[in-house]
Amino acid sequence: MSEEVAVVPGDGIGSEVTPVAVDVLDAVRDFEFVHVDAGDAVAEERGTPLPDETRDAVETADATLFGAAGETAADVILPLRAAVDSFVNVRPARTYPGVDAVQPATDLVFLRENTEGVYAGHEAEISDGVTTCTRVVTEAASRRLAEYACEYAPDGFTVAHKANVMRVTDGLFRETVEDVAADRGVETDAALMDALAMHLVEHPEQYDVVVTPNLAGDVLSDLAAGLVGGLGLLPSANIGPERGVFEPVHGTAPDIAGDGTANPTAAVLSAAMLLDFLGHTDAGDRVRGAVEDVLEHGPTTPDLGGDATTREIGDAILEAI
Ligand code: NAI
Ligand code: MG
Repeated sequence: MSEEVAVVPGDGIGSEVTPVAVDVLDAVRDFEFVHVDAGDAVAEERGTPLPDETRDAVETADATLFGAAGETAADVILPLRAAVDSFVNVRPARTYPGVDAVQPATDLVFLRENTEGVYAGHEAEISDGVTTCTRVVTEAASRRLAEYACEYAPDGFTVAHKANVMRVTDGLFRETVEDVAADRGVETDAALMDALAMHLVEHPEQYDVVVTPNLAGDVLSDLAAGLVGGLGLLPSANIGPERGVFEPVHGTAPDIAGDGTANPTAAVLSAAMLLDFLGHTDAGDRVRGAVEDVLEHGPTTPDLGGDATTREIGDAILEAI
């Protein structure tokens, strides 16, 4: 029986780049695709951005390909990550021959905590003009992330934190991650996340794998996108114990949505991570090889200086495959 992949294109360019990624998956494996949807448009039609059948499809599929949601993003992607019990968001950021980059030597992977921190959803307006956000950090989530990091990066990794200020929460994060790594003989170095942001801009080549709390990983990976040539290039994987949700780092790009010129590379590379996750690393490598070929020799979309459409890039990747 073929494996099942749930497809949730979402809004804006999510609905433009996701079909390209589906075609690419279809070209390298025999999957059964389950098409469902979520996001702003669905909310307008159905009164909820995340219908039950979408959540059910994601909960039962072997893996999910997601595009992006607009204003309802938090109401869509956070529950979808929870639906697969995703405890880590893997975000690689690297440069490619043929793509102009601010820092050509960048080759990083962020392993971002994916369930808590300031994204735990505990916000309140406690009185008029006074608001709070409760930051949640648990030993259990920090440990799960650290165990994954040790498997992913046995040669060592950097732990981003701000334990000098958030002594209790990031103190626990840092200590737990370092303890797990030490138990497994994996080397770590710790970096204050604000200073790290500057070092990443100046010397990205000094970093390899960076383990981060939730918000810091979100911010630092977009920073890395800026170093390598833009958000159109960055894929991500929300990994759970049995399932995963694979999505570009970018959002719906309202400024270019509808033009048909969004770069589908991030979505296609997310599909390659989906293939890896399901154990089809040969197919994942074929997809990455084809993407690299197209990035090097063209055509390219406007974000990379060209004038090709999303579809034309998709066709070029399919041809390279
Ligand atoms: P964005 O990632 O949508 O766009 C930022 C900039 O990067 C824009 O100039 C856009 O044109 C460009 N860009 C992004 N992806 C591109 C691609 N594939 N090809 C070419 N250019 C690309 O971030 P922004 O503008 O902050 O957010 C727009 C909407 O997306 C918001 O409603 C936000 O809530 C949502 N969003 C959703 C996410 C998700 O569903 N996971 C993640 C981030 C934002
Ligand atoms: Mg983000």
